[in-house]
Amino acid sequence: MTQTQTESPPRSEAKELSVGKPIDRVDGTAKTTGTALFSAEYPYPDLAHAALVHATVARGRITAIDTADASAVEGVLAVLTHENAPALKPAPSLSPLNLSSMVSGASLNYLNTDEVHWNGQPVAVVVAETLDAARHAALLVRVTYDPLPATVDFAAEEKNATPVKGDLVSSGGAKKGDAEAALAAAPVSVDLRFTTPPYHHNAIEPHATTAAWDGDRLTVHDATQSIDWVRRHLALRFDVPVAGVRVIAPHVGGGFGGKGSVWAGTILAVMAARVTGRPVRMVLTRESIYHTVGGRTPSAQRVALGADADGRMTALIHTSVARVGRVGGRPEPVTAASGHLYDAATILLQQNTVELDLLSNTFMRAPGESIGTFALEAAVDELAGELGLDPIELRMRNEPAKNPIDGKDFSNRMLREAYALGAEKFGWSRRTPQPGSMRDGRWLVGMGVASAYHPPVQLNANVTVRLSIDGTVMVRCGFQEMGMGGATVQGQIAADALGVPFASVKVEYGDSELPIAPMAGGATQTASVATALLAACDKLKRSMLALARRSGESPLRGQRLDRLEARDGGLYQIGKPGVGEKYTDILGRAGRPSVDAAVGSDTGLGAVAGQVRFMTKFLRDRRRWVKAATGAHFCEVRVDPDTGEVRVSRWVGSFDVGTVINPKTATSQLRGGIVMGIGMAMSEQTLIDPRTGRIMNPSLSEYHVPVHADVPPIEIHYLNEPDPTMPLGLRGLGEVGITGVAAALANAVHHATGRRVRDLPITLDKLL
Ligand code: MOS
Repeated sequence: MTQTQTESPPRSEAKELSVGKPIDRVDGTAKTTGTALFSAEYPYPDLAHAALVHATVARGRITAIDTADASAVEGVLAVLTHENAPALKPAPSLSPLNLSSMVSGASLNYLNTDEVHWNGQPVAVVVAETLDAARHAALLVRVTYDPLPATVDFAAEEKNATPVKGDLVSSGGAKKGDAEAALAAAPVSVDLRFTTPPYHHNAIEPHATTAAWDGDRLTVHDATQSIDWVRRHLALRFDVPVAGVRVIAPHVGGGFGGKGSVWAGTILAVMAARVTGRPVRMVLTRESIYHTVGGRTPSAQRVALGADADGRMTALIHTSVARVGRVGGRPEPVTAASGHLYDAATILLQQNTVELDLLSNTFMRAPGESIGTFALEAAVDELAGELGLDPIELRMRNEPAKNPIDGKDFSNRMLREAYALGAEKFGWSRRTPQPGSMRDGRWLVGMGVASAYHPPVQLNANVTVRLSIDGTVMVRCGFQEMGMGGATVQGQIAADALGVPFASVKVEYGDSELPIAPMAGGATQTASVATALLAACDKLKRSMLALARRSGESPLRGQRLDRLEARDGGLYQIGKPGVGEKYTDILGRAGRPSVDAAVGSDTGLGAVAGQVRFMTKFLRDRRRWVKAATGAHFCEVRVDPDTGEVRVSRWVGSFDVGTVINPKTATSQLRGGIVMGIGMAMSEQTLIDPRTGRIMNPSLSEYHVPVHADVPPIEIHYLNEPDPTMPLGLRGLGEVGITGVAAALANAVHHATGRRVRDLPITLDKLL
């Protein structure tokens, strides 16, 4: 521990707490009984349906577009192309002063140009009375192109990559000492190349938008991770006031970063509604998602490690090549975790990118870190092999006390403890080190470990809290719920802050009319909203106390808030739980139906000022501390020696994520990350034709996400030690689960077979 924790006030007797309990998700019943409405399910009278037509060349110009057959289909209302579509304002470029600029999926001005920038780019939209008519007619639009040479082959272009310069949003690289010289001088070393393929998003809910205009006012139901930023983006593109745009998305069926930006489907649904004067629904087919929603960058990585004979790292080099699109996308922090995990004497990190004529890459669960930790953590396992050391022991010998690059303090770091806990739960001591030495009948058994690492981010959030005479608490905040348990955990936090039962707290979210909250992404939302929520609850208690003190009869007369605790539905003296008053009694005596508290300002300049204040504090905090969620993955595989079939048979994840607000929802998040990592390691890959840039497997039948039979029992354990620099001690945990997973799996496969697979996915052909 590198910082003393804030003292908690003394308590006389245990207060009933909601935080820490495995409470069921409050939206669970609505979702499992089908009453929860998703973006494609909002009923509108007179609803029309839209479908996309995709370009079939990677680069070129449209020379002709024949819509006659499509227009003749019964029920077709409009066929929009670059020849008749209304003008759109251009997408904003990325600016730290305007965080909503982060949601520009691609710089393209859809249907405002005859240029084609990627194979699959939308070149027409058909609007019809029914979905079937729209999709059928879309197949009848005939487009003729004048193709231009396109650069689409990542493997061929890798050598032309250029270094990424760091900016406010991403770090370019890092350097400590002369790592190349130290590597050359090291008595033991590995110098390895790893590759990872492109991956695409396959959330269970496809991207869908329902859009309705009323004059210049727009209502949108959109499968998004960021209702406020979608609102701002649409207002800008369609040149209408932000205040007239409302985005409603209380339920989102999985996002994982794929719904973190505004993509063609959303913009073109809004455009189609504008043109036809009808509410329009656009539900993307799986194929359209592959063509219009970015995915994870492919990568080629070098990890070189040098160590002395005792296994102390003398050199750590991690460089990467990734891609962005010519029409957008940003470098992902592929080498970032390598600056924090090992106490190497010298370090060199460098990221490089190539620009291709493909759709932009985008956020996908732990962007950069998920593929970067594959290479790093697989290389560490290889170094352990060279040294003849247990891979956990090698990690413990190199576990840093301070941030390796710059010597900053960690806010708190318990990776050592995470390994100890995980090893015990997994039974690591039963592992015999020799590859191929463990068997279960005919199956070769392998056990592997790897570290997980993901830094949390916090953003400014606005929250209002109302406490009413009937004893209920209403929390209002425009965050989004895509299945993580956001509303549940914020309800738990409010319940404890106010000392009321969880059941009396209601949380309203998922509507841009509510106080503005940041995107659900980057493992930011829970801590960001909690900071504002705790402040609002404090304000509310102050107002309650002030109200009580105005009356001569209140037992709270003459009391100060720091001598009181919120419990049993009111404020009571610390150490004397009998002395105090219930909130409902305070309100009743004052003749007030409710009391409100608001934190942050909801609109206009106030929000910008609040954001700037917040970012200043955040950056100051980041200069002082390095903080991250960390963890240790333990994977067991069984490999068929004849067919190369790999079955993942057991998984234990042991995490230091700070305070766990709700072990049930937290476990689901981390388990989900591990499942996604198993897919990344074993079966998922987007196949792109290197000649044409065409995605060859844009469907769940050919892009293989893990199914239940591929997923073993996954045990999750926590250290549950608060981070002293975070609200309630919690760090974000939405992204850390996937980091390190592919490495743990590859390391287990090596232990079973003696084969190193350094090119994902680990398909059976690579083991024969
Ligand atoms: Mo996360 S990849 O920012 O949804």
